Amino acid sequence: MSNKKQIKFGVMLHGAGGHMNAWKDPSVPADASVNLQHYTNAAQKAEHAGIDFVFVADGLFINEKSIPHFLNRFEPITILSALASVTTHIGLVGTLSTSYSEPFTVARQFASLDKISGGRAGWNVVTSPLEGSATNYNKGEHPEHALRYEIADEYLQVTKGLWDSWEDDAFVRNRETGQFFDREKMHALNHKGKHFSVAGPLNIGRSEQGQPVIFQAGASESGKSFAAKHAEAIFTHANSLEQAQAYYNDVKDKAEAMGRSRDELFVYPALSPIGGATLEEAEAKYKAIQNLVTIEEALNYLGRYFDHFDFSQFPLDKPFPEIGDVGKNSFQSTTDHIKKRAKEHGLTLRQVAMEEATRRGSFFGTYDQIANQLIQWVEEGGADGFIVGHHVLGSDFDAFLENVIPILEERGYYSRNYEHTTLRGNLGLPFKENRYTKEKQTIIQ
Ligand SMILES: Cc1cc2nc3c(=O)[nH]c(=O)nc-3n(C[C@H](O)[C@H](O)[C@H](O)COP(=O)(O)O)c2cc1C
Repeated sequence: MSNKKQIKFGVMLHGAGGHMNAWKDPSVPADASVNLQHYTNAAQKAEHAGIDFVFVADGLFINEKSIPHFLNRFEPITILSALASVTTHIGLVGTLSTSYSEPFTVARQFASLDKISGGRAGWNVVTSPLEGSATNYNKGEHPEHALRYEIADEYLQVTKGLWDSWEDDAFVRNRETGQFFDREKMHALNHKGKHFSVAGPLNIGRSEQGQPVIFQAGASESGKSFAAKHAEAIFTHANSLEQAQAYYNDVKDKAEAMGRSRDELFVYPALSPIGGATLEEAEAKYKAIQNLVTIEEALNYLGRYFDHFDFSQFPLDKPFPEIGDVGKNSFQSTTDHIKKRAKEHGLTLRQVAMEEATRRGSFFGTYDQIANQLIQWVEEGGADGFIVGHHVLGSDFDAFLENVIPILEERGYYSRNYEHTTLRGNLGLPFKENRYTKEKQTIIQ
């Protein structure tokens, strides 16, 4: 293998694609969000190209203004379990919310996916930004931002604890002696905390990678602190290399301050590349994407980040409106960024809405330019890898695999051969040792 840094990639399986109206594109089935064959084809294609993992995002509240993909889509664990049986090496990462679920159930679900897939599961831990989620979960109030992260912190302590209920060789299954398990290697958690009371043990053992890989995607201060403590990989938005470097250093510093190594936490900026053999071809692709959206749809898209705030009440061609704290208890970091950018660049509401709905992004240009940028971000400390959310999970995905990946391979920054069978192995993370086994080993030494 090349001694150059290897660029890691995850691909978002987002129905027809990340663009809000990707379903209109003829290179994908119109019902892609609930089309098993489409998901299977995309996952197998990604695996053939040596992509490290596929990622299925999620949310818990919709209304008539939600984008088409959100209205009718697969639940992540369910679709990932189906994909586990038609793939062999690619990692399977899904979002699940700590604000609207129980840790015992979620620990079981991810442990099951991890076993079904032979150690390929990953969990993107989110706290659910949308207030409406509370109305679907019998909850009354949507917990406020800081509280959601406080709950998430304890939640992760519980799930990680439950995942160590059984040491790796606990199930002896000796038919001659009749011993099924070693009682010394079964551990109850007996957690009693502020938000959760969970005894354990969990009723499923560990997988080939020990525990599922923890991903996180919050970018607010509490989100970053949570990630620095618990996550092994972070998804983030980054609009420039400088911004990516600042974020990269910040979260790695935070992880270090918590006694972790900088290499135990990988940073994956999100990107939606728009490429072409020539710049003109890339421009034409961007035009085609823009033409898929009306301004009314773009306003709805923007409004969702602000907890489905109605932007249609403001004039389109005046400066982005002053809306105070709207968005603070929702997608906090995203909405802060949108407000700041609009002010700094004097953007109108129309400009902000259209930009958000059809992001041109930093990764725009010829395939060669895109490959160069990917290399630069990794070489210059802005990223360990990337989570790629293609605008259209058909033509754009194919273009990336056929044109950008081969350039990276040729330059020694990418290999399509999986070196391991587990997600931890392929990401360069060590096997997650069982805490009780580790404790015993420490005592013996
Ligand atoms: C690549 C990527 C994937 C994300 N996936 C999800 C997701 O599946 N569900 C979700 O609610 N938020 C998702 N987010 C949004 C962040 O989690 C969002 O910032 C967070 O929900 C709000 O937390 P914050 O206030 O700490 O930023 C994603 C963000 C990125 C960059």
